[in-house]
Amino acid sequence: MDYRNRLILAPMVRVGTLPFRMLAAQYGADITYGEEIVDHKLLKCERLINETLGTIDFVERGTDNVVFRTCEEEKHRVVFQIGTSNASRALSAAMLVCKDVAAVDVNMGCPKSFSVSGGMGAALLTKPELIHDILTTLKRNLDIPVTCKIRLLKSSNDTVELARRIEKTGVAALAVHGRRVADRPRDPAKWGEIAEIVQALSVPVIANGDVFDYEDFECIRAVTGAASVMVARGAAWNASIFSPKGKLPWESVKKEYIRKSILWDNDIKSTKHTLKEMIMHYSSLELAEGKAVNKSNTLADLAELYGEQEYFSDVISSRLLQITVR
Ligand code: FNR
Repeated sequence: MDYRNRLILAPMVRVGTLPFRMLAAQYGADITYGEEIVDHKLLKCERLINETLGTIDFVERGTDNVVFRTCEEEKHRVVFQIGTSNASRALSAAMLVCKDVAAVDVNMGCPKSFSVSGGMGAALLTKPELIHDILTTLKRNLDIPVTCKIRLLKSSNDTVELARRIEKTGVAALAVHGRRVADRPRDPAKWGEIAEIVQALSVPVIANGDVFDYEDFECIRAVTGAASVMVARGAAWNASIFSPKGKLPWESVKKEYIRKSILWDNDIKSTKHTLKEMIMHYSSLELAEGKAVNKSNTLADLAELYGEQEYFSDVISSRLLQITVR
């Protein structure tokens, strides 16, 4: 895994499932992070080969709840992001997926209360010993790269000091979201503070925050000196942001996303959530389309809503045929 000169799809809960990662890669993303999955949750899963879809599924035992789905085609670029507050639990979870993904990343930036109250995400930023323990444990025991994603601390000096400690654990790269824990998404990302971290480290730094167009990849790289760039909202709204040819109309990206969701039998909640991210940005959830998406209960409903019934039936027929042949 090379972390230099890479355009990276950021981890996004409910967005970064297999169809969205494949979509981003189709438009040009070099590395695609999955949504954060908490170690406890993964530890309840068994690894199953899904021959019908051609995927590897991590399914919660005793249920049909697919917690993580991946496929051979993305193995060289998919990063599994883990939510954890404990080194040995993180390792047990990472061991389950490590043969199927390109790298493992630890989320150290999530400010949401469910994360922080469990000692995960941004709660780790104030516990450098625990960070050290988690990262060195993963690094020592895994054959794939280990990275983490942090936010800025109160002062730039503090962030640089923490970044230096993280570098010493042997991580392959460090992703920095240029906001502090208390910052809102609308607050501008502090590219200048990412630059200070880049200057202090020799390990590749992945700059993250406020990339909304293809040109911004170059801007943030020029300002920060970062090795690579990661984008979240700009990609959720229009995944073709990764294309050097410029963004495609969001309607066509949306259609492609729906097709991919059907193809990979994506979870309906995740599909709806991702569509809503797009609609909220370009239109409104109060208009007819938003309301109809809200009401949809299945992928078949969404196929009908977007005139993809024929594609839907073709996919279902070819799955049935495969099962019959087997
Ligand atoms: C996020 N973010 C996030 N970060 C993370 O480390 N793990 C995660 O699972 C998520 N989930 C998530 C969901 C959604 C819908 C959004 C919008 C964001 C944060 C994200 O990766 C990124 O750090 C910030 O959004 C800043 O980047 P942008 O949006 O300015 O490009």
